[in-house]
Amino acid sequence: MSNRLEKYTIGYANYLPGHCAVLCRMLVYNHPGIGNQRKESMKIFVYGATGTVGQSLIEKLLAGGHEVFAGSRKPESGKKQAGLTWVLADAVKPGVGLEVLEKVDSAFFISPPGYTDQFTILNPWLEKAKAVKLKKFVLMTAMGVEHAPPEAPFRKLELAVESSGLAWNIIRPNWFMQNFHTFWVSGILKDKKIYFPGGKAKVSFIDARDIASVAATLLTSDKENNKAFALTGSEAISHEEVASKLSASTGVSISYVDITPEDFKAGLLGAGLPEDYASFMVYIAGSLKEGNSAPVVPSVKSITGKDPITFDTYAKDNRQAWLG
Ligand SMILES: NC(=O)c1ccc[n+]([C@@H]2O[C@H](COP(=O)([O-])OP(=O)(O)OC[C@H]3O[C@@H](n4cnc5c(N)ncnc54)[C@H](OP(=O)(O)O)[C@@H]3O)[C@@H](O)[C@H]2O)c1
Repeated sequence: MSNRLEKYTIGYANYLPGHCAVLCRMLVYNHPGIGNQRKESMKIFVYGATGTVGQSLIEKLLAGGHEVFAGSRKPESGKKQAGLTWVLADAVKPGVGLEVLEKVDSAFFISPPGYTDQFTILNPWLEKAKAVKLKKFVLMTAMGVEHAPPEAPFRKLELAVESSGLAWNIIRPNWFMQNFHTFWVSGILKDKKIYFPGGKAKVSFIDARDIASVAATLLTSDKENNKAFALTGSEAISHEEVASKLSASTGVSISYVDITPEDFKAGLLGAGLPEDYASFMVYIAGSLKEGNSAPVVPSVKSITGKDPITFDTYAKDNRQAWLG
């Protein structure tokens, strides 16, 4: 691993099995149930609002009667809807748009894919949140980040949030189900194949709609303040099982191809990802292949009160995406 890659990725998804066992026990112990939902309408900022998690989160917050300020690089293109205001938020301009935090009660942050220095992108927002004494700061990172060394950018950001003095939550989702109709969809549409270096490893994929439900609960509740949660689906399945489920849902025979890390990286670079991010993806895929993405934890149900969405339901809801 190059020094640069190591700097960014070491420990990001360094899910040691022992850590997972401890984590699972902590999650069972630490989840008393659904949070204290605030009754009043709140003002909430969502960074990365047009993304996989962001879109679903906005829908849920608006449906709950909250006022949403949605961050995007192109706020002028955002869909018009009552209760929704689009504002500028751009990872390559980390100091721009921060003033929206003066208007809101709580805020949700992701780091956009393609960028490996999550601390530089989001710390200005955290500093602004501290300056305006935001009531709640919710950050999404990824499963396993807590095991990264303190200088790794995502972990450095997590530690800054935890010591900010603000009320906070950190959510760390496993690999998204949605990757199969976004990142990996072109192979399915072109060749009826899922190309991924996952081997026979099981993965407790999570539906991004569940991540959004968790985030919506945490943003509007104080009950679980100052805790971090791993988020997974309710079952761990292999990529071969994924292919079977997509085949059953579409009626088209879709198969899985366990490609080499080199071919995986070449595909990512071909799709336009920067070299360091492509290397990072190869690294975390290697961790998945070692079985480190298999643990199932109960946090979606304990926070939202609902069972996680199953892969079968995800496949049924999105079948059109694989039919072209
Ligand atoms: N996919 C997975 O399996 C997985 C698993 C665990 C954790 N994660 C984490 O999830 C995060 C991504 O979440 P997501 O899938 O919801 O995001 P996403 O759909 O990939 O993208 C979110 C939004 O980021 C915005 N964006 C892109 N470049 C940007 C930039 N330069 N500045 C500001 N915004 C930019 C885009 O919005 P605009 O075009 O409107 O600006 C995009 O809609 C990453 O941090 C990743 O590490 C992903």
